[in-house]
Amino acid sequence: MSDARHKVLVITSGGDAPGMNAAVRAAVRMGVHLGLDMWGAHRGYHGVIDADIEPLTNRSVSNIIQRGGTVLHTARCPAFREKEGRDRAAAVLTENGFTGLIAIGGDGTFSGLIALDHHWDGLTVGVPGTVDNDLSGTDFTIGFDTAVNTALEAIDRIRDTAASHDRIFLVEVMGRHAGFIALAAGIAGGAEHILIPETPTDIEAIGRAITAGRTRGKTSQIVIVAEGDEAGGAFDVGEKLQDLIGSDYRVCVLGHVQRGGTPSAADRILATTLGAFAAETILDGVSGQMVGLVSGDRRRTPLTQAVGTRKTVDPYLVRLIGILSQ
Ligand code: F6P
Repeated sequence: MSDARHKVLVITSGGDAPGMNAAVRAAVRMGVHLGLDMWGAHRGYHGVIDADIEPLTNRSVSNIIQRGGTVLHTARCPAFREKEGRDRAAAVLTENGFTGLIAIGGDGTFSGLIALDHHWDGLTVGVPGTVDNDLSGTDFTIGFDTAVNTALEAIDRIRDTAASHDRIFLVEVMGRHAGFIALAAGIAGGAEHILIPETPTDIEAIGRAITAGRTRGKTSQIVIVAEGDEAGGAFDVGEKLQDLIGSDYRVCVLGHVQRGGTPSAADRILATTLGAFAAETILDGVSGQMVGLVSGDRRRTPLTQAVGTRKTVDPYLVRLIGILSQ
């Protein structure tokens, strides 16, 4: 039996995000520093249910801060949505003497933590790791900055070929229910139009704007489409626009390219801060909270609020799209 103050399990869950490894490293090393007994489970909640666990030391998390993906592996776990799966996970946690669980992931991961609370009396802490940036209680989620920069690099490249061929391009970026990647990458890439789920999409108005742009001398235009836009993905939007714009267009779906790659410096710093703060949160005996950074300050927000309150896009940036694309 360990004489550590807490035995803590760390998981990464849901879609991977660049910077998850930096968060694991920081949680483990801060945990060790605080005298906590740190462990990891593989493949998110699957690893908890299957007791697929290993002790984590300072050396186990060496040389991972710069790596994309997650060394703990991740998964979406349908079994954890069932009471039976959560009962099994709670039994594994109790039988193995765990008193804390740090879960790095997005809204699905945190909904799992909230549900687990009814089955297990250990401390639960969420660390926001998702490219979507769709969690309240933190200005940015781990992985968002890297994903935006990856999308931006692609948009810049597409602009070269779009300009050369005098073409309209529809570029689809990730964001199942949120337009944060689309808005950030679109603004930074100087896109003419940005379609996001947070604002109504009027296809006819976009068709008219594309035609008006051409009349003003724009030979090529870039339309960014968040995959979760109510008008559909980039292929759907292209079909709907076809007759309105009466010209050739191309579609590029960036897809999972946005989830991979070396985390940016900003993501590594955010992940390091929040991973370490998660371990401190366990030591403080605080449970049911997501750690986040708001205007530079470390904050704890109830998990229910982090997933239950819709994070809003910056209306000023939304207003700029139409003005600056003239
Ligand atoms: O939630 C992160 C995210 O990348 C979404 O933007 C995207 O819709 C989804 O995950 C894709 O999930 P999967 O990798 O399971 O296809």
